[in-house]
Amino acid sequence: MIDRRTLLATAAAAIAAPATAGATSWSQTPSSLRELAAAKGVMFGSALPAQPVMAQGSAEAETYLAVIAAECGALVCENEMKWPALRPNVTDFTFERSDAIVAYAAAHEMKMRGHTLLWHHPQWFPDWLTNHDFGSRPASEAERILTAHIRRVCEHYPQVVSWDVINETVDADTGELRETSLSRAMGQSVLDVAFHTAREAAPHAQLVYNDYMSWEAGHERHRAGVMRLLEGFKSRGVPIDALGVQSHIGSGNSDDSVGFDTAQETEWRRFLDETTGMGLKLAITEFDVHDKNLPADPVVRDREVAALGRRYLDLMLEYPQLDTVMAWGMTDRYTWLQGRWPRQDGLAKRPTPYDTDFRAKPLRQAMAAAFEAAASRPPLVSAPA
Ligand code: G3I
Repeated sequence: MIDRRTLLATAAAAIAAPATAGATSWSQTPSSLRELAAAKGVMFGSALPAQPVMAQGSAEAETYLAVIAAECGALVCENEMKWPALRPNVTDFTFERSDAIVAYAAAHEMKMRGHTLLWHHPQWFPDWLTNHDFGSRPASEAERILTAHIRRVCEHYPQVVSWDVINETVDADTGELRETSLSRAMGQSVLDVAFHTAREAAPHAQLVYNDYMSWEAGHERHRAGVMRLLEGFKSRGVPIDALGVQSHIGSGNSDDSVGFDTAQETEWRRFLDETTGMGLKLAITEFDVHDKNLPADPVVRDREVAALGRRYLDLMLEYPQLDTVMAWGMTDRYTWLQGRWPRQDGLAKRPTPYDTDFRAKPLRQAMAAAFEAAASRPPLVSAPA
């Protein structure tokens, strides 16, 4: 295990060594992203996967952990707190992989976000839950399984400062709520029950509804569906504190241009205004900038990714209610996007702040500059970052 001083020295070297001719040297901003964000009351961190990073023990994994330790004030398990990871069956819990990430965060004085108490989407349920026999009283059996899960996980991780209680329950195409084995057994009260149980089991944590609606054309129904859900929560007195805006931005999920035009920006601000107008905070929970449709030249690509990232973060940070920015990975080497929606030219993607060799990229500087330009706000947790 490398000590903290070596970790920071390794990361500093990575920061000082730009990846491409287009990358700037930012010795003029030696502070970490965690420090720059915390100075404005924003918690900054990243998702981290147990596989391959925590388990690998390779030079690459060690260097990545050095970057994480230097740059991040918070971590979130990329997959390890999801039901398929924690729940092999209806009775048991397997916490080993998430425990390893949580212990790593504690050892490096990082806060934890929790993702997710219920990814209410049938594709991401464990098979045993999809096929469970809910018996003659299905509603109470479903509620028993759901509340036992949330209580046990929240009690196991009292250090989590913010929980994605429900993830992606609004169908992006229709705006309607998704159906799962749980909602078929107990109705859509599954969502309210999840929030109420989380409040009891994690009384000090921020409780978040997390989803990937964006400003893009084609997201109108998704935004409207999320807004209906949030309004319903508020009108029923459901204890929700924040909207998690995942922020997988850029090209690739659709084939239109990478940016957003004035009309789209207006719609997006209206959505954020309505959300914050309900008294909800905002969290960027899964930031990355997809470069699927950008030119092959890495200098051009990195420049456009950084420009969009900066514009987006500036807009979001205008909202004093935004208290969290989490990257969905800090290196192109391990990003989930390498395995999804391949580029036509087959090149590796460059959607994160560090390249595959852990050299800081223009996106890292854009994020630093956005934090430096942001106004101060009340932090999610008042302890030092
Ligand atoms: O670990 C197994 C491995 O043992 C097996 O050999 C391999 C074969 O497919 O699968 C591995 O598990 C994969 C896991 O990632 C770890 O790499 C799963 O198949 C794969 O489905 C899983 O994908 C994750 C996905 O959520 C589904 O859980 C991505 O890493 C993760 O980045 C992604 O994260 C989501 C957020 O939770 C919610 N918002 C969107 C975001 C991106 O899709």
